[in-house]
Amino acid sequence: MLPTVPKIDNPEKYSDFDLPREKLEYALGEALKKIDYAIETMNGKFPAEYGVNNIYAPMENNYGWGSGFWPGMIWHAYELTGDEKYKETATSLIPSFLTRIQQKLGVNHHDMGFLYTPSCVAAYKLTGNETAKEAAILAADHLITRYHAKGKFIQAWGDVRDPESYRLIIDCLLNIPLLYWASEVTGDPKYDEIAYNHFNTTVNVCCRPDASTFHTYYFNPKTGKPLRGATHQGNSDDSAWARGQAWGMYGPLLTNMYHPNEKAIQVFEATTNYFLNHIPSDYLAYWDLCFTDGSTQPRDSSSDAIALCALLEGIKHLDDTDPLKSIYTNAAKRIMNTLIDTCLTKDIPESNGLLLHATYALPQKIGVDDLNIWGDYFYMEALHRMLNPDWHPYW
Ligand code: GLY
Repeated sequence: MLPTVPKIDNPEKYSDFDLPREKLEYALGEALKKIDYAIETMNGKFPAEYGVNNIYAPMENNYGWGSGFWPGMIWHAYELTGDEKYKETATSLIPSFLTRIQQKLGVNHHDMGFLYTPSCVAAYKLTGNETAKEAAILAADHLITRYHAKGKFIQAWGDVRDPESYRLIIDCLLNIPLLYWASEVTGDPKYDEIAYNHFNTTVNVCCRPDASTFHTYYFNPKTGKPLRGATHQGNSDDSAWARGQAWGMYGPLLTNMYHPNEKAIQVFEATTNYFLNHIPSDYLAYWDLCFTDGSTQPRDSSSDAIALCALLEGIKHLDDTDPLKSIYTNAAKRIMNTLIDTCLTKDIPESNGLLLHATYALPQKIGVDDLNIWGDYFYMEALHRMLNPDWHPYW
């Protein structure tokens, strides 16, 4: 059953707010300085997924699950400035994505969309680069090998024959746009069918009745029937890991771009209202939404950045008369304002990232209250969306 959309507990928290364009332009200027510096420090390599003391180390190879975000940020810089140096840098990273998928390097998981959409699909959409197209279609071919027809979902991690790994994770809602795109460019409906089945299975099992979300969900490998929700990166199986909730806000809207459907909008509104009701009064999410005002737990600015993209995409689908439209518009402005005021790295000259205070995986003790590369990517996408509401998504 789909969650009903919870009421916004305190509409005052999202009352009218003015975020002047000059402030967004200032933020873009600061982001570009850091991207320029990172291009220098990476020197053709890829930033690690998370920072250490707010610095990304260059990775020797294109191997991690987050490598796509770096070229994605550079594509945003290119579109926002028209400066050819960004196009050249992002284009120079494409061959490593082709090699990676041809040689199956670090691809024994479902993150083909995170890897290939902001890097290669973006390159193809913006410049018609055929190598990028080839790499992204191969990545889509690889992703569908993880589909379980019985359970109607794409397995997140591990060997697809391992019954212990027979589960999905909510993050995968961001991987399936690669499949919708692959059906569009190849004319073969198989990718689209798998993606849409996966979307339906995910929202059916991951959304709890109160509109919070499970991070991961196990199925019975013999029957394909849903078994139980669990967490991997959240505080507990029953809590709402902040980033999982944010994936649950944005993901349905990305499916909605290819398959307009009321269910996606309802899930977006439900998960969004839960998020907005549970972030603290300074608008910077704690890493798990079970923590709120007064807690000393670390924050996760990347959840805010993803949620911002969801809000900015979601308001396009709301009527001007819908009270949620003004709440979401003001929430987006307030969250962006918080990121600009409290998370920029501008006072840390040695930092080569954009956003402080992100948390990768607290239970695993990695990347806690530091940079993370998808936080930086979605922050750039959100800035882009605010500066140019007509932007055409890479997704
Ligand atoms: N998709 C992995 C993460 O959000 O940490």
